[in-house]
Amino acid sequence: MSRDEMNVVEELKKKRKAVILAHSYQPPEIQDIADFVGDSLELSRKAAETPAEVIIFCGVRFMAETAHILAPEKTVILPEPDAGCPLADCIDVESLRGMQALHPDALTVLYVNSPAAAKAESYTCCTSANAVKVVESVPSREVIFAPDRNLGLFVSGRTTKKIHIWEGSCRCHDGVNPDELATAREKWPGARLLVHPETPPEAWNLADAVLGTGGMIRYVESSDADMFLIGTEEGMVYRLRTLFPDRRFLSVGSIRCEDMKKTTPEKVLRSLRTLEPAVTLDPVIREKAFRAVSRMTEVSS
Ligand code: 13P
Repeated sequence: MSRDEMNVVEELKKKRKAVILAHSYQPPEIQDIADFVGDSLELSRKAAETPAEVIIFCGVRFMAETAHILAPEKTVILPEPDAGCPLADCIDVESLRGMQALHPDALTVLYVNSPAAAKAESYTCCTSANAVKVVESVPSREVIFAPDRNLGLFVSGRTTKKIHIWEGSCRCHDGVNPDELATAREKWPGARLLVHPETPPEAWNLADAVLGTGGMIRYVESSDADMFLIGTEEGMVYRLRTLFPDRRFLSVGSIRCEDMKKTTPEKVLRSLRTLEPAVTLDPVIREKAFRAVSRMTEVSS
């Protein structure tokens, strides 16, 4: 983005009382113009707390919906309306109700990577940063965990609760090739390998740590290693290089989310000018989804 365009963005942000929030998977040029870059949990917190009246949400639809659920009085804009999440799309209300009917003693913990209508049918939500804590907090011995199978398995190994896992996955993370990770480990024996819990268990077994994107930042902060192999969406490497310019980061496993790359500085600029496209939800669904999302934020605050 040229200096002139950057100036226009700054002017419009002031005029609109707007803030630009971006997920760590966003392209470098979007991370560079954002006021705040973070993981899904941090972004939902920011959306709820910001005094701004307009939130330009650079991420994918479920993230912008979560911001709208938590901050309905603010205008939440998703600059690219087609930025979706195939994982979120793999769950629908009818099938979720079907699973709930099969397990009447279980409460549902829904990963935020899900549509608002499914959140409205759930007891609470979680992100990769707080999934174990949230499951532990639920007042039932049995839990339905949806829609990410790998994160569900990850949680199952860290709780004594009985977890009924939905059969869904992020095709980018789930498609990671463990042989590629093993080769990278051999090539850089001194480097630490960090993988996201949406990757399959074969990847976790090779890793030094299994963490959400915010957890990866905290891991690097407290580690004395100087090289890290990053097994999550490749945008995270730019985020880490920006935060820790003295360390080395390499993206491994070829994990790239095309939906995350749909946001461009031009679309952000257009959104600031037009305040479109705004995220809206049926108020009844929003209200019910709010209960589930706020149970999550209370537990992880
Ligand atoms: P984080 O919650 O770790 O930021 O992950 C978001 C996500 O969508 C992973 O695919």
